[in-house]
Amino acid sequence: MMRVLFVTSECFPLVKTGGLADVSAALPPALAQLGIDVRVLLPGYPAVLDGLEGRRTARPLSDLPGGGSGRLIAGHLANGVPVYAIDQPELFDRPGNPYLAPGGADWTDNPLRFGTLGWVAAGFAQTTSSHQWRPDLLHGHDWQAGLMPAYVAFQGSPRPATVMTIHNIAYQGQFPPDLLPALHLPAHSFQVDGIEYYGGIGFLKAGLYYADRLTTVSPTYAREVQSADYGCGLEGLLASRTDQFDGILNGVDYGIWNPATDPHLIRPYDPDRLDAKIANKVALQAGFGLAPDPDAPLFALVSRLTWHKGADLLLAALPALLARGGQLVVLGTGDKSLEAALLRVAGSHPRAVGVHIGYDEALAHRIQAGADVLMVPSRAEPCGLTQLYALRYGTVPLVRRTGGLEDTVIDATPAALADGCATGFAFDDPTPGALVWAIRRAIDLFHQRDRWQTIQRRAMTRDFGWDASARAYAGLYQRLISGRQAPSP
Ligand code: ADP
Ligand code: GLC
Repeated sequence: MMRVLFVTSECFPLVKTGGLADVSAALPPALAQLGIDVRVLLPGYPAVLDGLEGRRTARPLSDLPGGGSGRLIAGHLANGVPVYAIDQPELFDRPGNPYLAPGGADWTDNPLRFGTLGWVAAGFAQTTSSHQWRPDLLHGHDWQAGLMPAYVAFQGSPRPATVMTIHNIAYQGQFPPDLLPALHLPAHSFQVDGIEYYGGIGFLKAGLYYADRLTTVSPTYAREVQSADYGCGLEGLLASRTDQFDGILNGVDYGIWNPATDPHLIRPYDPDRLDAKIANKVALQAGFGLAPDPDAPLFALVSRLTWHKGADLLLAALPALLARGGQLVVLGTGDKSLEAALLRVAGSHPRAVGVHIGYDEALAHRIQAGADVLMVPSRAEPCGLTQLYALRYGTVPLVRRTGGLEDTVIDATPAALADGCATGFAFDDPTPGALVWAIRRAIDLFHQRDRWQTIQRRAMTRDFGWDASARAYAGLYQRLISGRQAPSP
């Protein structure tokens, strides 16, 4: 049985700031279904240590980056997936966001915190004890796991295979070079053909340089990041490895995101009981203090509030949305200036705009169920999960045509409407004007009930379950491991 260690900094429901947590929770059980022994390694944040079931100490950890020591804790998730957590209180015993101090700045010791994640992961492969679990392959996610493939590469052979997945290339983990010794990185690794990146230590760069195979979370994003517009400086490295770089679309855990069984909803519904969706809409309008009008097109945004996510585009397009009788609900946290601007419009249009600044899993479900249109106006979107959830909830996605959004939403062009394959709305230019045009198209169709319901039903029956993606990862793992075992010519 193939053994794979998932190296990640988030995993729902233990710790989540975005889609990485959903992927880390759902892909391992989907791989387990295919007969792979997958285990997850996480930093021991308080919520992780508290939330693990069947906790026990697996082994002591010493000589960690920064010189500290700690313990490896073993346990499992409610779904049975085995989880290891790094219990090192000096690095991880902190409340709140895993990356940010209470003031909103990065924790200054993030390089040591996530260097430790990569270091402990690589250590799994070094065990000589037959009692300890030894992975055949280490799969790292995002910059937080970026040093793992580097540490593995510096180990003697035989060494495990490594895969690095980019969930968002905009976050790269770039740190000063004087941390090299504390991170246990050899001096010779500090070069362009190594971990050096713009004069510093690049965590993601290191991962993308040293891992045996690279993936990202949609085919379109895999193409995009090999260009200067999207690659954020790493496009050259990725283009040079294009044959070892795949885009594999994320999936949805329909056990959690299903309007027929979702415990957060006022009333469950499915494609044959679409009328019951209205009850969720009216409840959502009431919850946000909006006019309780089932005929007002209700738009929603559930997102980190950042420039990349296009929250500023939405603000600029909002007057046109409101002028056409639309309403908007927003759930998100992020840039303080965007939060403040959204709260200001909510204050001046209390019956049409509702804004909840904060993180609220249950409310995210209720918005998916109650809204008519889910907006994802991202400038870049590696995959995007909220539009996939929206599809299943018959909440028509309105997206910018980029990354995974392009791969998952079929624009309601006249031809797509005629064919019955439309599932949403898409616009190209990241400008308020292009967004307004898409909003107008959405509102026009919303008022044509039959055509709208055709789109909803089509959206709800699209299948973005994890099975196909898990098979793609399993195939990639298998090829990598058997390729490495093949005798050299
Ligand atoms: P990203 O990972 O870039 O933030 P995704 O669309 O992949 O984008 O994933 C976002 C995930 O986070 C989804 O599960 C979404 O429902 C959730 N989410 C985002 N903001 C909030 C929030 N304020 N409250 C609750 N859930 C949120
Ligand atoms: C990232 C991306 C998002 C993707 C998620 C899970 O946070 O921004 O598009 O869906 O990771 O892969």
